Amino acid sequence: MGEIMKFRNAIAVTSGKGGVGKTNISVNLALALQKAGKKVTLFDADVALSNAHIVMGVQPAQTLADVIAEKKNISDVSVKGPLGVKLISGGSGLLELTNLSAEKRGSIIRSFRELEEDCDYLVVDTAAGIDDNVLEFVQACNRIIVVVVGEPAAFIDAYACIKVLHQANGVRNFDIVVNRVRDDAHGADVFKRFKSIVDRFLEANLHHVANIPEDTQLHASVSRCNPVVLSNPNARSAKAFVKLAARIDSAEASPTDASESFVATPARKSGGKR
Ligand SMILES: Nc1ncnc2c1ncn2[C@@H]1O[C@H](COP(=O)(O)OP(=O)(O)OP(=O)(O)O)[C@@H](O)[C@H]1O
Ligand SMILES: [Mg+2]
Repeated sequence: MGEIMKFRNAIAVTSGKGGVGKTNISVNLALALQKAGKKVTLFDADVALSNAHIVMGVQPAQTLADVIAEKKNISDVSVKGPLGVKLISGGSGLLELTNLSAEKRGSIIRSFRELEEDCDYLVVDTAAGIDDNVLEFVQACNRIIVVVVGEPAAFIDAYACIKVLHQANGVRNFDIVVNRVRDDAHGADVFKRFKSIVDRFLEANLHHVANIPEDTQLHASVSRCNPVVLSNPNARSAKAFVKLAARIDSAEASPTDASESFVATPARKSGGKR
């Protein structure tokens, strides 16, 4: 059965810990990739408490909740955001969304292949934690960004996230974004400390792909519902997002062995050179 390749790359943004910047990184990365001429769809897979639409400043009339209720197809609930980035928003505050069955998740992931237009990148913003909802959407991607900040609780949760993806699900390559850094030296230090913990116990490959500075402009952009990449392209964080997008776009993705994948051609050798 010849399936049409829809997404060249599906990038999960995850962290274990809540509140470390996943949604802001997802939204600004999606916009920076689109600005660079790519076709990007953002999927807010924080299905029960979705907020990417708020950060992005769009108000979707329909969401994934309508797809789950089997009232709509995934293409019906895709809305156009700034620069033409497409957004598939999760639902909000619905109990049935917090406990999706494996079958339901599989059908959501497969339904992304129904999207009519080809797309260069799918960016998947995940919920906090490492429950099955998060892990399955992450594994369906062929690149995994783990967001880390320089505090012990974030290290523990990011480590737990990498451990379960690596040990239970065979994922080897992880892109690390260090958020809220003072400067690049601080980011390098956080990465080094985090990597030394992971290296002690796991055979995972961590790639330090970006530092995002602590930036009051980013914080302000959240209250204005206008992402910093658009509202203030000269801000430190905006420049870092553009750099992250270029880095992502220039590197080869590490493929996934998951049975359900957003990318229509998931087969790969394990490991993967970068
Ligand atoms: N680089 C940064 N500079 C300044 N503030 C930041 C930065 N990154 C994140 N923040 C602040 O942290 C808040 C939380 O970020 P965000 O919502 O993106 O986190 P999250 O990981 O998606 O959270 P959740 O786990 O709840 O989904 C932002 O609203 C912003 O105020
Ligand atoms: Mg979030």
